[in-house]
Amino acid sequence: MFLALLLARAGIESVVLERRSRDYVEGRVRAGVLDRITVEVMGRLGLDARLRREGLPHAGTTVLFDGEACQIDFKTLTGSVVTVYGQSEVMKDVFDAAEERDLTIVFEAEDVRLNDVTSEQPYVTYRKDGAGFRIDCDFIAGCDGSHGISRSAIPQETLKTYERNYPFGWLGIMADVPPHPELIYCNHENGFALASMRSPHRSRCYLQYSLDERLEDWTDERFWDEFVRRLGPDAGAHVTRGPTFEKGIIPLRSFVAEPMRHGRLFLLGDAAHIVPPTGAKGMNLAVSDAVMLSEALEEAIRGGSQSALDAYSARALARVWKAERFSWWLTGMTHRFPEHGPMERRLQRAEFDYLRDSKTAQTAFAENYVGLPLA
Ligand code: DHB
Repeated sequence: MFLALLLARAGIESVVLERRSRDYVEGRVRAGVLDRITVEVMGRLGLDARLRREGLPHAGTTVLFDGEACQIDFKTLTGSVVTVYGQSEVMKDVFDAAEERDLTIVFEAEDVRLNDVTSEQPYVTYRKDGAGFRIDCDFIAGCDGSHGISRSAIPQETLKTYERNYPFGWLGIMADVPPHPELIYCNHENGFALASMRSPHRSRCYLQYSLDERLEDWTDERFWDEFVRRLGPDAGAHVTRGPTFEKGIIPLRSFVAEPMRHGRLFLLGDAAHIVPPTGAKGMNLAVSDAVMLSEALEEAIRGGSQSALDAYSARALARVWKAERFSWWLTGMTHRFPEHGPMERRLQRAEFDYLRDSKTAQTAFAENYVGLPLA
């Protein structure tokens, strides 16, 4: 949707095919932290009226390790902040804007197939309400997520993939109770915890969760007891308990597919890369891919030069790998790993101590968290 809106702004027509309904996409609870790049793009697209009113700017975050705190002040260290604003709210805003701007979105498009992607005239076929359709394209953007069809249109021998699956997930809940005012990442001997929010009245909280546990064993009482225990007496004292909803498991996975282009097909977002959620980079990376591809398409279509399109994959991947590194590093410092022995535990502790004591280390954290520049 970001790509379609950016292209429309440049006078370039596109058609968005979405397998689900608008209600489904808006109802999905996903990411919640927008980096400075995403906020800037929403502003540039004129999509930020509600974001400015309802988004919650965060000038920093707290990392807790065995009860000790390290405050990271994004604003002082980088001049930038992040904004808490749910992905479902972003989706409402982009769909509303698309409607106002007469963009074509086909919801509930079935059986989408990509054809002749390495030719000069690729085309897409799909079915909707029982009828078949064909779209002749200049370019195809595969923005269809990790399980979509786009990546599989690239031959195995062309694609190199990198993958790491973590031996744990996150158990996430929502509750209509006032959140802890800060974003808190916490490494406790029982595992990771994250205190986040969606509004001044809605908490979003996560616990590291062993993949052999059963979701139904996590009653609200057990969740809050464990959440408060991991946050410790100081931060835990600010936790308000309440009935939970949207309780679910989020897997932790790192994945990259290279290159992000095959002929006239370009991959964006989760179709090409997945980060573990720690650090909230997933949606933000998809938005920055959209910015890079829209610039390249504009240059190709308006300017007649292919060079930015030829550079798209390498340009996007250079930034993707840095976000992969940051998410991997933050996951590594804040979680309990079943394979860790005393040596790894002490190294993890040293990582935290270094972060707490070094302004340089905090700056490195902050500039990754608020969003690296689109080099
Ligand atoms: C949220 C998710 C994250 O992965 C994170 O690092 C911070 C906040 C959230 O859902 O609010």
